[in-house]
Amino acid sequence: MIDIQEKTTEVVESTDLMPINGTDYIEMYVGNAKQAAHFYKSAFGFQSLAYAGLETGLRDRESYVVVQDKIRIVLTSPLQSNTRIGEQLDKHGDGVKVIALWVEDATESYHSAMSRGAKSYMEPVTEEDNHGKVVRSGIYTYGETVHIFVERKDYNGVFLPGYKKWDTPNYNPDSVGLKFVDHMVGNVELGMMNEWVKFYEDVMGFKQILSFDDKDISTDYTALMSKVMSNGNGRIKFPINEPADGKKKSQIEEYLDFYEGAGVQHIAVATDNIIETVTALRDRGVEFLRVPQTYYDTLLDRVGDIDEDLAPLRELGILVDRDDEGYLLQIFTKTVMPRPTMFFEIIQRKGAQSFGKGNFKALFEAIEREQELRGTL
Ligand code: FE2
Repeated sequence: MIDIQEKTTEVVESTDLMPINGTDYIEMYVGNAKQAAHFYKSAFGFQSLAYAGLETGLRDRESYVVVQDKIRIVLTSPLQSNTRIGEQLDKHGDGVKVIALWVEDATESYHSAMSRGAKSYMEPVTEEDNHGKVVRSGIYTYGETVHIFVERKDYNGVFLPGYKKWDTPNYNPDSVGLKFVDHMVGNVELGMMNEWVKFYEDVMGFKQILSFDDKDISTDYTALMSKVMSNGNGRIKFPINEPADGKKKSQIEEYLDFYEGAGVQHIAVATDNIIETVTALRDRGVEFLRVPQTYYDTLLDRVGDIDEDLAPLRELGILVDRDDEGYLLQIFTKTVMPRPTMFFEIIQRKGAQSFGKGNFKALFEAIEREQELRGTL
């Protein structure tokens, strides 16, 4: 991933159908943007970055932007009834609306995607202020989720035109070491996975790099199928899940029921030191899924030698998996929205480029224990 500060100078050479430099920002529609921003600061170690709302001339919505290293999250709430944002909140609850992608030419990206069958969300728009100009355009992906293409090579403002710096001099909790978005997972309806795989292949020029079926991923109750799509330079990875038949309601079905459609299931964020990061998150009240202690009794037999001591991994509940290229450490938060929909993954890669397949079973059983508590299994 590339540092946001370096974005104006770094140009990626690529013959991609759809060259993308990285994730630009993630926008969530939430019930109370001001309080959500506080949560991402206090619990997840984000810093105040930018604000747009009544004070900047908006009348219908307000947005707070928080940042941690290369990760920017925009939290948006409506300020009146009968808005598109409000309608979507009513239907889906809090969740991700926009996965914004940083491109060199947002006009070209838009027309190129449209020529290959994309559905338009927003025609290219140039926005300007004293700090330069930004061009944005957008297309729909699964559900009501959209990709916005952001061209910011002629911009050096704090976030986007229309936003002012959000200063909170008295409260800026330390970072917990989250660095960048590693991958973002979408849950789609039964039978729709291959359609969205084809969308990412045909419209976005992505390639499928991995797939899992219900033989890889099944417990007594949950079964799911998943295909992982990656853009040309590997900076954008979108696994797409669909439910498969299980004995009871799978976690994917639970998501689709509560979100009332397809949407973003989890955002995986990378750290260079998962033990420090998860310790800090836990101390700030972030709740994680736990696997049984027996997971650790046989861990080293499964994954071989690792650099980390077993004791803190066991204490924190961090999972480990190995593939041909190395290993990875990962852990999943409980859902962070009122509805049991979206959650975060914290991941540290030590060579491995996969997604923790060896942990799926233990993990899904942990999710099912949560579903049982919710009465949704
Ligand atoms: Fe993941």
